[in-house]
Amino acid sequence: SGLDAMMKAKGKKYFGTCSDRGKLAITKNAETIIADFGALTPENSMKWESVERQRGSYSFADGDFLVKWATDHNMTIRGHTTLWHSQLPQWVKNINDKTTLRNVIETHVTTVMKRWAGKIYAWDVINEMFEENGQLRNSVFSNVFKENGKPGDGFVKIAFDAARKADPNAKLYINDYNLDLPMNPKTSAMASHVERWIAQGIPIDGIGSQAHIQRGQGAQAKAALAKLCGVAGLKECAVTEADVPQGSPTDFAGLVSACVGNEKCVGVTVWGVRDQDSWHPLTYPLIWDNDWTPKPAYKAIQQAL
Ligand code: XIL
Repeated sequence: SGLDAMMKAKGKKYFGTCSDRGKLAITKNAETIIADFGALTPENSMKWESVERQRGSYSFADGDFLVKWATDHNMTIRGHTTLWHSQLPQWVKNINDKTTLRNVIETHVTTVMKRWAGKIYAWDVINEMFEENGQLRNSVFSNVFKENGKPGDGFVKIAFDAARKADPNAKLYINDYNLDLPMNPKTSAMASHVERWIAQGIPIDGIGSQAHIQRGQGAQAKAALAKLCGVAGLKECAVTEADVPQGSPTDFAGLVSACVGNEKCVGVTVWGVRDQDSWHPLTYPLIWDNDWTPKPAYKAIQQAL
């Protein structure tokens, strides 16, 4: 119902948010999610440090909770995230040889994705692997797979191949932030690398644009998405973690209409429900205030739909 129904009426798959067990236990929060959202991303429960803090020892209880809750409420699920330099256990960061890291990536991706195979619409297989200048980010992944002394991308194929095998029907995404302007180096790097990886046969289906945007950037969302979603061979794209300082109504409307106006964009996910539960609560970046009253951005989104 609510905003989700309006998105679906526009031919999109969902309007989503993130949550996890603790926040879903807040009655008013759960009611708001049921009323306005059709998709959930686990905010933390499927990250590496949450599911495999010690090598080979998996904790799925919180992820299971999210999947059951979303499924019980008929919601689409976006899995988040198998490979990320952040919220990554130290034992992974300590790996310094390719054979071990290849093995660990394959085992992690396979085990986590098989756990919920068939129940998750799309997975952020790799998160935040680019620097602002468009170079590959320094991480244990790019460093162990370095090429000519520079961060290398050999782990990308390993991760996506394992992901495709583990859950063949899940849409496989690469996800990042600061892809909000069409002309910045990071947006260009994402588009050109993904185009090349797809041409090489790496099974990437989608690009996710987190959209933790600054005020004013909503106006450029349409052009930015056109560039990202326009990558040759890419099946789809999505806005995956939207929030805007002060919940700026025009910027939220800009993001939502950018997705609605782009054929390949399947949906918009906002990164939380009420401001105080945001990862950046002091910027009041969401579309409900702390007692779950819809802020002006809510109406602006309705009008954009
Ligand atoms: C954030 C969560 O919202 C916080 O609860 C957690 O402490 C840190 O991570 N990019 C991402 C998300 O891909 O996973 C991050 O989520 C926000 C930035």
